Amino acid sequence: MNNLDWEKLGFGYLDTDYNVRCYFKNGQWGDLEVSSSTNIEIHVAATALHYGQEAFEGLKAFKGKDDKIRIFRMDENARRMQSSCEGILMQQLPVETFMEAVRKTVKLNERFVPPYGSGASLYIRPLLIGTGPQIGVKPSEEYLFMVFVMPVGPYFPQGFMPTDLVIYREYDRAAPQGTGKYKVGGNYAASMYEGKLAKKEGFSAVLYLDSREKKYIDECGPANFFGIKNNTYITPLSDSILPSITNKSLMVLAEELGMKVERRKVPYEELAEFEEVGACGTAAVISPIKGIYDSDNDRWFKYGDEPGKWSKKLYNRLKAIQTGDEPDTHGWVETL
Ligand SMILES: Cc1ncc(COP(=O)(O)O)c(C=O)c1O
Repeated sequence: MNNLDWEKLGFGYLDTDYNVRCYFKNGQWGDLEVSSSTNIEIHVAATALHYGQEAFEGLKAFKGKDDKIRIFRMDENARRMQSSCEGILMQQLPVETFMEAVRKTVKLNERFVPPYGSGASLYIRPLLIGTGPQIGVKPSEEYLFMVFVMPVGPYFPQGFMPTDLVIYREYDRAAPQGTGKYKVGGNYAASMYEGKLAKKEGFSAVLYLDSREKKYIDECGPANFFGIKNNTYITPLSDSILPSITNKSLMVLAEELGMKVERRKVPYEELAEFEEVGACGTAAVISPIKGIYDSDNDRWFKYGDEPGKWSKKLYNRLKAIQTGDEPDTHGWVETL
């Protein structure tokens, strides 16, 4: 056991007992290694440090009423990491090795998995970096894959309440044919400046328009976007957004709840037609949106101070599957 106050946890880094590592050297991946150190030793000319050869993932494990630990859709994270590796020429890790490393890290840190009902969960952070030296712009020949975990609090300490987003046309997170669809560190570095500005100005995140024409909705800083109107769940189709696993799951649940689902280009003007809008991702499942401020045209789109009825239903359904409160009919959850 430990003396963490589960109810007071935020979303921040915390030390746990062990992490798991796997090295790619001489053309092959080695065995999984367990470490209790939070440091890594890295070559000064490693490609991760100079040329951004770095990809990461984020997923969660939850304790159920039965006290069992459940991990949500980790095969999807494994495949998305393979896609990120393909995108920035890093060595891909087999899906099974990724999943085994996640299982092992969670089990080794079992005492940090927050109890059922606390609203907290165990956040799992896999990452893969180029560790070999290159000074010309070339991919590394050596890689390190790691998984570490930490308990995190509920995303909304005050409950499931809507927040505001902001549109700034002068900042792009990713180029139209660039790396936006991969979960690579460079995209996050590119979004920090305006992300901080948004917070300073009282918004929870930036809502990006497509970088080519500024005509369509792309995604929110760290989450996908959806809008709901006429019993239809509408979410952007774009080459420069991250394919969210939460969004993919919500689309399935929306259909099961009797909604229509459309994945297509979403014109900016449509913001005026939505009855509900939200941001979705692992961190919060759904962050309902109260308003969107277009800072370039001094124009507000308002959606109400309370979460909409569909957002609530979708949120409750997905959370219930993750914790085992409702049956997992899709094979999304692995019980350890
Ligand atoms: C840019 C971006 N979009 C969307 C998401 C949501 O993806 P997921 O639902 O897989 O967490 C995330 C978070 O992982 C993200 O960083």
